[in-house]
Amino acid sequence: MQEINNTLVVVGVQWGDEGKGKMTDYLGQKADVVVRYQGGNNAGHTITFGGNKYALQSIPSGVFNPHIKNVMANGMVINPKAAIGELEGLKQRGITDFQLFISDRAAVIMPYHIELDGAYEALKGGKQIGTTKKGIGPAYCDKYSRVGIRIGDLIDPEYFAERLRDALTQKNVELRALGLEEMDFDTLYKEFLAYGEVLRPYICDTSILLNKEIEEGKKVLFEGAQGVMLCIENGTYPFVTSSSPTAASVPLGAGVAPRYINRALGICKAYTTRVGAGPFPTELEGELADYIRERGHEYGTVTGRPRRVGYLDAVGLRHACRISGINYLSIMLFDVLTGVETLKICTGYELDGKVIDYVPATLSALERCKPIYIEMEGWKEEIEDVRDFDALPAAAKAYLRKIEELTNTEIAVVSVGPDRTQTIMIKDIDTISTR
Ligand code: IMP
Repeated sequence: MQEINNTLVVVGVQWGDEGKGKMTDYLGQKADVVVRYQGGNNAGHTITFGGNKYALQSIPSGVFNPHIKNVMANGMVINPKAAIGELEGLKQRGITDFQLFISDRAAVIMPYHIELDGAYEALKGGKQIGTTKKGIGPAYCDKYSRVGIRIGDLIDPEYFAERLRDALTQKNVELRALGLEEMDFDTLYKEFLAYGEVLRPYICDTSILLNKEIEEGKKVLFEGAQGVMLCIENGTYPFVTSSSPTAASVPLGAGVAPRYINRALGICKAYTTRVGAGPFPTELEGELADYIRERGHEYGTVTGRPRRVGYLDAVGLRHACRISGINYLSIMLFDVLTGVETLKICTGYELDGKVIDYVPATLSALERCKPIYIEMEGWKEEIEDVRDFDALPAAAKAYLRKIEELTNTEIAVVSVGPDRTQTIMIKDIDTISTR
């Protein structure tokens, strides 16, 4: 059997927004294919190069390189209008030469999903999840209740009519019950057939394409959105997204064999952030939180919401590394921590008088967890121009070594600024992706 060592999964190991866009873009320069395999336009991947900043939501990060095949695979939920808008935005900024492939099996986010996302949140009273209101949860629900529309349906007019009629029969009952306006078949039908025509050149069976690329030895990078702590299976349920951003969901979400996935790079901020509600044991408030938020520009790419900020949580990181089989970590936004006098890292939780070193399953237990910290000395020097690990201040090196020790995972990359060039490579990335 052919040995596969040319795939790499990029996984966020916290609550999303770890800087996966920068790393995927960076690694993507050497990749042949970049694949999104879950989530939708709830993600916000920011990429900075040549003095320009680009924010992508559903389009894979390899789109800036004309040699890269960009795949939106079957595990995604795709809002066609938003995806077309993103493509238009890129074209207006001169990004016209790209290769894009959209799975005919990917789920479509329909306008009623967006309406229902907002309505379900409103019904939760004070217990809102704080979703991005992009219709992600309701679209995945429909997929699993077998009333979902798929991208391939949009270019098969008769079949699409049948699917949409079935879906609307059910959805209009729900909308009515929630006091919302019913949706009109003809309007939706025309609108979405038109999107199908725009997307037609990109729509194909991406599983066939991906398996061929992998078997030919091409370098394939799988770009996770969100982070392991937002995983529907292993995250801080119910305050999670509706898909699994782990490496484990790549085979299903991209239609490739599990044995083709054997390496994962965990993307981890040097501290922790979270948007939306839900437990966050190491959350900070006050001056230090504001300092980190401002230096790290911690405001949501998709929603603009200020992000909650906290110390690094090694308990959460160990959980994420275990679940996703992380081989190496990439520490992001490391420069943000310059000037913090004392840094803390959470090494365990105190739960009901006992010390635990794992993330408990129930929300009520996690809410009762009190972080146990170790303290580390900070550094004052700005490090954004450092390109070599040895040139970092001693305290900064010690902080990184401590992360490795606490997570039992080697650090391969340290990011010291948003630009592609502001990157310290400790391990040659090629030895990670094509070992
Ligand atoms: P949804 O994915 O819109 O359903 O939102 C569910 C939860 O996931 C909310 O707490 C969101 O803030 C969070 N979330 C979804 N996508 C992202 C992301 O890309 N970064 C960070 N948080 C996210």
